[in-house]
Amino acid sequence: MPTIQINGMTFNAYDAGQGAPILFVHGFPLDHTMWQQQLEHFSKTHRVIAPDLRGFGQSDVTAGTVEMHKFADDLAAVLTALDVDEPVCYCGLSMGGYIGWEFLRRHGERVGSLILCDTKAAADTPQAIEGRMKLAQAVIEGGSEAAVEAMMPKLLAESTLQRQPHLVEHIRRMIVNTDPESIAAALRGMANRRDSTDMLDKIAVPTLLIVGQHDALTPPDEMRKVAERIRDARFVEVPEAGHMSPMENGAAVNNAIDGFLTKNG
Ligand code: MLT
Repeated sequence: MPTIQINGMTFNAYDAGQGAPILFVHGFPLDHTMWQQQLEHFSKTHRVIAPDLRGFGQSDVTAGTVEMHKFADDLAAVLTALDVDEPVCYCGLSMGGYIGWEFLRRHGERVGSLILCDTKAAADTPQAIEGRMKLAQAVIEGGSEAAVEAMMPKLLAESTLQRQPHLVEHIRRMIVNTDPESIAAALRGMANRRDSTDMLDKIAVPTLLIVGQHDALTPPDEMRKVAERIRDARFVEVPEAGHMSPMENGAAVNNAIDGFLTKNG
């Protein structure tokens, strides 16, 4: 797995397969391994690139506040370092979707098509901002376990909790292995992010929106409204899945992405 140096910072990025590139951008506070089922499947037909965002996975720890546009600029630099010049299919989950709006704004020429999983376009409510600030504090004081306690109950569908306990363990591991400073920095960045609703009707690339039927954080109704505002959008609701649909029902998500890529190259 290549290690990439960008402005003195080390990034880790999974890079496999050949063909049209797909850029997989993980959610918070996770790492690229959340895309395991997609990476295995799509590396047979595409070049799949899945970086660990700054502060996460094997990429360097980061502190302070990381704005969504900073993550987006990092991704563009990772693509440059990997010699990817052609437009990619950008596929982001949740925070990976928030970063996607900034990637479109700042590096739109790099996006050939867009896949957004379990995410939203709206900014945080004042209540959500307060929750994020409290969690940032709790993590700094008490360690990353505080993020496990806060996030885990909201991430997975009931059926996943009962039938796929290994996913609970995988998610827990990703979170506890993340440095508290990095978790807090991303929380502050998400709290600061701007509303992206007004850019939806300007999106000109083919777009696929995927959401778990039982997603408690970014519910299907909210994502359906996002889809309705994008000119060339397809909306897929994934059964037996919550917020982590690519992990919880990988087969259905891969099937939806396969259909989208077949139609859109
Ligand atoms: C994520 O999955 O990236 C987070 O749940 C996003 C968020 O907290 O808004």
